[in-house]
Amino acid sequence: MLNFISKLPHVNQSIFSAMTTLCSEHQAVNLSQGFPDFETPNELINLVYRKMLSGHNQYAPMAGLLRLREILAEKIEHLHGYYYNPESEITITAGGTQAIFTAIATIIRPGDEAIIIEPAYDSYAPCVKIMGGFVKSITLEPPGYHINWQLLRRLISSQTKLIIINSPHNPTGTILDEGDMQELIKSVQQTDIMIVSDEVYEHIIFDGHTHLSVSHYPELQERSFVISSFGKIFHNTGWKVGYCTAPSKLMGEFRKIHQFEIFSVNTPIQYALADYLQEEEHYLQLVDLYTEKRNLFSHLLQGTKFKLLPCKGTYFLLAQYGDISDEPDINFAKRLIKDYGVGSIPISSFYTQNMDYKTLRFCFAKKDDTLKEAAERLSKI
Ligand SMILES: Cc1ncc(COP(=O)(O)O)c(C=O)c1O
Repeated sequence: MLNFISKLPHVNQSIFSAMTTLCSEHQAVNLSQGFPDFETPNELINLVYRKMLSGHNQYAPMAGLLRLREILAEKIEHLHGYYYNPESEITITAGGTQAIFTAIATIIRPGDEAIIIEPAYDSYAPCVKIMGGFVKSITLEPPGYHINWQLLRRLISSQTKLIIINSPHNPTGTILDEGDMQELIKSVQQTDIMIVSDEVYEHIIFDGHTHLSVSHYPELQERSFVISSFGKIFHNTGWKVGYCTAPSKLMGEFRKIHQFEIFSVNTPIQYALADYLQEEEHYLQLVDLYTEKRNLFSHLLQGTKFKLLPCKGTYFLLAQYGDISDEPDINFAKRLIKDYGVGSIPISSFYTQNMDYKTLRFCFAKKDDTLKEAAERLSKI
């Protein structure tokens, strides 16, 4: 018998795959996984095609196409006031997921501790564990999901090497405000703690709020890896292209891992993105697009028994079902698929302790007709 010990013995099929499979089995409207059901812009698809035809089909430079990095440096400076050196401080990655993994692998050694704010995107904790680190988590509670910074500071020890933040936040739709950023500064100053700041939803923010990036704050920027994803911006999550920014010393270490992990990322898509990003409206228009979808879906659910929580950013809306049932959220989410034909994600799956606040996450990055169909089915409950 082969003696093999799993590095992640408690990890099973992700809830996203499980819910999507169940949705297909029951022909349910799938509002579970976070991807749009509308197409990536034709102009961008044509650009990729043209770049392929014109011969951009071999390995891209390890750190990514320089022209794309230059455009990103300008974009970030324009939006957040800090200029990352495109040569040494920006790397194109295979989506946000790879950027998160590589950043965590750069920081965490066996025995180190990472602080994760839960509910949290599912990849953070496993990445820390794969590198031999320990996760300490702080739990946020509905309806506000506010971070208790004093509590967070109590988790900091001499082993703490990393704090992972995410704003706009998946799954809660909350955002970090100026007060939070100042508390974060207070928490890490005079320490060597680094930050992974997951900002993949930076352009999906509502009601006049502005995304506050760690790159804007020198005390945070100097110790942060910032994670971004084109999949969330241009409706092509399947292309898996994103990027990471960090000060050159940190980015140098990141690239040492990146080059042996993946070496480089899809070439024609990088050429196409470099052209497409010239027009800032291509990403700034997301605010209007998703404000309309959030408003439409919330409006359609007004008459139902679900209690909706505020959504300030991302394309996720949380709904509490305590007035309908006291079943555990996983059971209720499954029943919603089987009996009513609508897929969602139970929020307990974003907590390591599976805290159950009878809350579901619905993805509203869908065609209006899809949202109407889902709402009609939900109103039958
Ligand atoms: C918070 C968060 N971070 C990172 C990612 C991963 O991004 P990508 O699809 O580019 O790998 C996602 C995707 O859903 C996400 O929600």
